[in-house]
Amino acid sequence: MLIEIRPVARLRGEKAIDITPAVSEMIGALCEDSVDLAKVRLVCDWVQYKHNFRDVVDVRQISPGTSADQLEVAVDLRRAKDVDLRAAAREVLGYADRPDLLPRMPLEHWTAGSQSCIWDFNALYWKALGEWERATGQMYESALPGGESDARNQAAVRDLISDMFRIWDDLSERRSLPEELYVVELGVGNGNQAKAWLDEFVVMDRERGTDYYRRLHYLMCDYSQHVLDIARKNVTDHATKTSSVILDATKPTEALGFLRFKVFLVYISNVYDNLPCDDVAQIGGRHYLVETRAYLNQPDAEAIAKSISVEPAEVPNQISRLLRLGPELLAEASPDNFADTDAAVEFWRQCWQAVRLAERYVPIQGLDLYEVAPGVTGEMLRPQLEAGGDIRIHVTNGAVASFTDTIPLLHPFGRLVCHDLFTTDVMQNRTGFRGPGKYDGSVVNWCNGPLLAHIGSRKGFDVRFAPFAHRKGTNIITMTAQVRD
Ligand SMILES: C[S@@+](CC[C@H](N)C(=O)[O-])C[C@H]1O[C@@H](n2cnc3c(N)ncnc32)[C@H](O)[C@@H]1O
Repeated sequence: MLIEIRPVARLRGEKAIDITPAVSEMIGALCEDSVDLAKVRLVCDWVQYKHNFRDVVDVRQISPGTSADQLEVAVDLRRAKDVDLRAAAREVLGYADRPDLLPRMPLEHWTAGSQSCIWDFNALYWKALGEWERATGQMYESALPGGESDARNQAAVRDLISDMFRIWDDLSERRSLPEELYVVELGVGNGNQAKAWLDEFVVMDRERGTDYYRRLHYLMCDYSQHVLDIARKNVTDHATKTSSVILDATKPTEALGFLRFKVFLVYISNVYDNLPCDDVAQIGGRHYLVETRAYLNQPDAEAIAKSISVEPAEVPNQISRLLRLGPELLAEASPDNFADTDAAVEFWRQCWQAVRLAERYVPIQGLDLYEVAPGVTGEMLRPQLEAGGDIRIHVTNGAVASFTDTIPLLHPFGRLVCHDLFTTDVMQNRTGFRGPGKYDGSVVNWCNGPLLAHIGSRKGFDVRFAPFAHRKGTNIITMTAQVRD
């Protein structure tokens, strides 16, 4: 039996938490003889997200249905003391060979993490944000690291704009600055970031007397019409300089192809960590894709069913209708189950709170056969998967797709600047839990920085990471990509 304890900071120092009772209870449950210990890996995480997709104890089959099958037993040390751990472990271990028989209500078939319906929940959150925020009384920004978007930080914005002005001044001197100056923002949220940027731009442009504002086009892009409408209202002072574009951030050239080689700044904050993501792993020298399946625990499914007057078996169907229609239309279509939109939103919130992800490890037959994103094969993951020892990493598929489809838009002197949660060293996957977690109604997943840097470098881009410079103690990292000198 192999025991892996992720060495998070909380395990060390004067205020270290005592993990001995949890580990001892888990070993006690495992030694009750329901599983073959020779095949077990016990993985102990500290899941820092208060709301997440995991039960305190989970079992994951490795190579299910083959002679090489093994079992991963996962425990969340943060919540271990809140439950009868031995009983929780005993329950899931009892189903180790047949997890399909656990008292759970599946919401989908086994699939790669990026294809899970949790991403439909995520998209619904942004599309129907107004209804959600009305119900919770809480704005989405308060769930972000630091309680507000770092893209609003005035000092950070000034630095960004002055760097860009330097480049424009240079090009202008050489009579090479185009008349039209394009800036693209992907994933605009409430538009606070656009407003902060544009307000500062005007001030700095006036101070310098450069008249760049007259030539500026700021394109606010998002896949949610609702979000774009809010953002648009927020930048009414700059109405003649801004346009709103509906697009999927994972394929920006579909809408913005006309801007190829023209954009001086692509500005992104807190979006990459919100795009669909698979996990892959190397265990015992073999490569695996982590397949997931969203489910509700039976008691949660029963409580939710009761609240909308249906049988528990009907809940998955109601959830898929919610994800297709949104709360307002769902309430209109099913007045017997939902008195009004608020009732449908309440149903949505209950489901989101309860939804969990089961996981299993399925062998990848060849890394070249696994697609990270269009035009990017799993071979790009090899250096990380084979960095030494067992490892599990995020593939960050949505962010990779977005990145590779955005850089063709950049002017040769343009830059992509992204504030987000990134790992910057593959070993960080061993030393902490990197998601997915739940932020209010959306998903958060740390992005694989070394992978983006590796892919960027193959395409002639220099990709750098630096801690966000304007707020102490933050996990936010600023990624900058530009054509290599
Ligand atoms: C966490 S908010 C960040 C908003 C803003 N940039 C900030 O820092 O406050 C994520 C934004 O990305 C948008 N978004 C998420 N996935 C997207 C996708 N696939 N295509 C376009 N926009 C997306 C959401 O609608 C939302 O506006």
